[in-house]
Amino acid sequence: MKLSIIGTGYVGLVTGTCLSEMGNKVSCIDIDEDKINNLKNNIISIYEPNLKEMVKDNQAKKNLFFTTNYKKALDNSDICFIAVGTPMNNDGTTNLDYVYDVALKIAKNMSKNMIIVVKSTVPVGTTEKIKDIIHRELRKRNIDLNFDIIFNPEFLKEGNAVNDFMRPDRIIIGGGSSKTKETIKELYSSIVMNHDRFIFMDIKSAEMTKYASNAMLATRISFMNEIANICEKTGANIKNVRIGVGSDKRIGYDFLYAGCGYGGSCFPKDIRSLIKTAEKNDYSSILLSSVEEVNENQKNVLFNKIIERFGDDLSKFTFTVWGLAFKAETDDVRESFSLKLIEKLISKGAKIKAYDPKAIDSFKEIFKNKNNIKYFSNKTDALKDSDALILLTEWKEFRHLDFEDLSLNLNKRIIFDGRNIYNRTFIEENGFELYQIGC
Ligand SMILES: NC(=O)c1ccc[n+]([C@@H]2O[C@H](COP(=O)([O-])OP(=O)(O)OC[C@H]3O[C@@H](n4cnc5c(N)ncnc54)[C@H](O)[C@@H]3O)[C@@H](O)[C@H]2O)c1
Repeated sequence: MKLSIIGTGYVGLVTGTCLSEMGNKVSCIDIDEDKINNLKNNIISIYEPNLKEMVKDNQAKKNLFFTTNYKKALDNSDICFIAVGTPMNNDGTTNLDYVYDVALKIAKNMSKNMIIVVKSTVPVGTTEKIKDIIHRELRKRNIDLNFDIIFNPEFLKEGNAVNDFMRPDRIIIGGGSSKTKETIKELYSSIVMNHDRFIFMDIKSAEMTKYASNAMLATRISFMNEIANICEKTGANIKNVRIGVGSDKRIGYDFLYAGCGYGGSCFPKDIRSLIKTAEKNDYSSILLSSVEEVNENQKNVLFNKIIERFGDDLSKFTFTVWGLAFKAETDDVRESFSLKLIEKLISKGAKIKAYDPKAIDSFKEIFKNKNNIKYFSNKTDALKDSDALILLTEWKEFRHLDFEDLSLNLNKRIIFDGRNIYNRTFIEENGFELYQIGC
């Protein structure tokens, strides 16, 4: 099939590349000229396992194209995906400017009938508004073109995005005529060959499903963080509690890890957006507000442990931070816990030595405080002359500690583990103090 994907961020680039891998002809459009020029040369601005190789391979096969030219791309498309960002406004509502701008550009440039697929996460009712914008503009152009629009949320996880796209748990399709549904089913059939994973519903329910899914996952995280804090007060161990709770088939083990709070480009903004949608409809979501509040409080837990151990004045201390990305296998630092913790430590006078396998450049772009932080290209160099190691991202290379390296380089044998990945007995047997969350 001939497709265009608008927006070449995490979702757009993964969607376009994976669909080109299946033999479709895909044009990816972005307004960022540098990004497009880089992509044409197989330079990818994000780190996502396997993605770079697939982009290179499919450009070489002439299945995948990158352009800033809407008209050229749409002239060659039967289906057009909208995958631009929907960031949070200062008041917590969703900024839909990019999505509406794309709607207008599609309407101004389309020259044939097509199916429009909204993949960006948008509040309930937005897909209908996109439809209205396109209708209005087509009327202005006095041109007789038909289009159908569906909402098809994306559930990929950064760090495993290609795999998630290729092996989805479900494909949700909101709205669409029966002909559209058949076409979309055909498009995705190659990735869901062995199992019918399609769920069809109305547009509004599909829009809500995306928010409700993220809200459920965030709720599990905040719930476990709350239980972890109670564990600390009572002497219980959250790691044991997780195993005990997760073994109930009705509950399951996933998303039951206590830590420093959820972050990333989706959960914080999507929970906020859902709270705002509820408010707009005269409903106050007590549960979601609490999920958010627990998460905000959780961001202080590790910081408070550091202050308790080293005192309120950190000007004599240097800390090594391992991990800047909001989670492993990505270089995304949007709403990463590392930003907040490092800022707070520096505000207390601390010096930071930071290392991340992939996220140093993206961290530097966002983190404005350039004094008192040094970046290192390997984890051992970052340890030299520090007073403690602070683990913030669960990259595989941090799983097993080299105690000889640690002892040789650190001034003090202290580890703060913000992800609960280390075994207390083992760490303490090797002569280190260990601080974790809820255990
Ligand atoms: N990142 C994730 O893990 C994830 C997962 C599921 C859903 N989502 C949702 O998918 C959407 C996209 O997220 P993302 O993380 O890929 O965003 P992103 O910020 O990484 O990328 C958005 C891209 O859209 C481009 N863009 C903006 N306006 C444009 C326009 N008018 N025309 C063409 N391109 C334009 C930007 O230049 C950028 O490259 C959001 O709604 C997000 O909530 C994201």
